[in-house]
Amino acid sequence: MSLFITFEGIEGCGKTTQIGHLTSFLKKARRPFLLTREPGGTGVGEKIREILLSSENAGLEPMAEFFLYVADRIQHYRQVILPALRQGKVVLCDRFADATTVYQGFGRGLDLAWIEEIHSRALENAKPDLTFLLDLPVEVGLKRAWKRLKKDQTGEDRFEKEALDFHRRIREGYLTLARKEPSRIIVLDGMKDEEILHGEIISHLPDALRG
Ligand code: TMP
Repeated sequence: MSLFITFEGIEGCGKTTQIGHLTSFLKKARRPFLLTREPGGTGVGEKIREILLSSENAGLEPMAEFFLYVADRIQHYRQVILPALRQGKVVLCDRFADATTVYQGFGRGLDLAWIEEIHSRALENAKPDLTFLLDLPVEVGLKRAWKRLKKDQTGEDRFEKEALDFHRRIREGYLTLARKEPSRIIVLDGMKDEEILHGEIISHLPDALRG
């Protein structure tokens, strides 16, 4: 069965770990799936990612930043996600449109209704079937993200360098979206042990995928 699942949360929320566990689960269950991410996921998208996440581009105008994320998403959704869903795959996507609503809307202050309008046109009203929001205090997430940054050399440090207040708006923004769409956005306590969280994620999957 096809299913579009996205993972969201603040920096250092543990999405990558949980996506890894879910990937192993699907492999073991022999379910066809596609693992992808935003920004990125296409050739053009990976180039856009480089522009967006480098601290060299910290001066990007919020609206220019917004359109780059949307351009990335249109390519990604139409060329990668939609075809995979049509082939009956489970699609696991590390961030999607909710990230733009939260980072560029709640974070940078762009108009939320306008963001929604552009998204519904760009994606023909498509939304993920299920979104896992890993929620945890900003201080804890940022501490983890900084540790990871010291280790890797990707140069993707623009958002980790934002002020604490920005990240608090992101956390609150995600929780606001979850309150608006409680059946799609499942809020999980990111402070819990990773095995327990994995079990909770599995328990929210449709029976057809668990069986
Ligand atoms: P990640 O690899 O940790 O998910 O980092 C991607 C960064 O890009 C993260 O800080 C959130 C940011 N972002 C946005 O601001 N808007 C978006 O639409 C997406 C997908 C990501």
